[in-house]
Amino acid sequence: SQSVGFVGWRGMVGSVLMQRMRDEGDFAFINPVFFSTSNAGGKAPAWAEGAGPLQDAHDIDALKKLPIIVTAQGGDYTTQVHGKLRDAGWDGIWIDAASTLRMKDNSIIVLDPVNRNVIDSAISKGVKDFVGGNCTVSCMLMGLAGLFKYDLVDWMTSMTYQAASGGGAQHMRELLTQFGQLNAAVKPLLDDPASAILEIDRQVLAKQQDPSLPRDMFGVPLGGSLIPWIDKDLGNGQSREEWKAEAETNKILGRGEGFGTAAIPIDGLCVRIGAMRCHSQALTIKLKKDVSIDEISDMLKEGTQWAKVIPNTRDETMQDLTPVATTGTLDIPVGRLRKMSMGPEYLSAFTVGDQLLWGAAEPLRRMLRISVG
Ligand code: HSE
Repeated sequence: SQSVGFVGWRGMVGSVLMQRMRDEGDFAFINPVFFSTSNAGGKAPAWAEGAGPLQDAHDIDALKKLPIIVTAQGGDYTTQVHGKLRDAGWDGIWIDAASTLRMKDNSIIVLDPVNRNVIDSAISKGVKDFVGGNCTVSCMLMGLAGLFKYDLVDWMTSMTYQAASGGGAQHMRELLTQFGQLNAAVKPLLDDPASAILEIDRQVLAKQQDPSLPRDMFGVPLGGSLIPWIDKDLGNGQSREEWKAEAETNKILGRGEGFGTAAIPIDGLCVRIGAMRCHSQALTIKLKKDVSIDEISDMLKEGTQWAKVIPNTRDETMQDLTPVATTGTLDIPVGRLRKMSMGPEYLSAFTVGDQLLWGAAEPLRRMLRISVG
């Protein structure tokens, strides 16, 4: 079996990836070599029977020996190591969770249930850099693939509700710490059924505005609030997260300038909310023609086997179209499907996805399986 180097396998995305690979029996097909940026010489994880000691993740000679490297170590690592490794003549397969190489001409964004044709054609052309997409984009496409497959999307807006996990493990901890401190600040009043709600509200706000509330990760309080900006300010009024929607979706689908076709316009606002690890999005889709909701539902189900159409009723929506219902599963529920008052070509939809699974680990895991044959 082929040797595969793993970097960043202990972090949040890396841990989810390792668990999914174990669940799917992927380690039977490979010979894992574990790298570390901080603990070279340490022990490989106990579950990886027979794996040797941890190798130094900055040792180009050690990395060079591997035909395949999978990294969830983050963008800084990719920036530091990928170029050096290629310059040293390495022509192995690089499978990466970070955004660093995503939009490079010689990389492919992998989401094989949606773009296996793009991946296969890239492999035949000798492409060696395979990068997981932005979590919001990948989750959206896993849900809406059917509409794109039938080329029904004229344009789309995506308004997101993004979970704390998108920032990282420390962000999730900070959110929960904030929730805890907010609760603690009003606990005696909450326990007293006769207390005044506006007094509770006043004290919660005082705690949110108190500089002692931990906020190093998000910069401002998120618990009991929201943040309508994610990632860098591009200086044109758009955040980098918002820019990714159109840029990455079209690249994944093999559309746009580089492919000789018109890109599908996709734009919207990206908002951080106090969810744990599921990103949700409200979509307004301008269809190229009037297609019935029944036909749309069939197309969505056909798009990927993970897209799960949720009937547009109050009960089913509340039960099945939430982060709590979706977390830890590979399902991508798509619901709130209805034609909007603007006309029969305007479709509303809402979708939810676990940003650590389809949003991060799963496309990489599947790309590794494709790579080892
Ligand atoms: N940029 C995403 C977010 C995370 O902050 O939610 C992963 O793509």
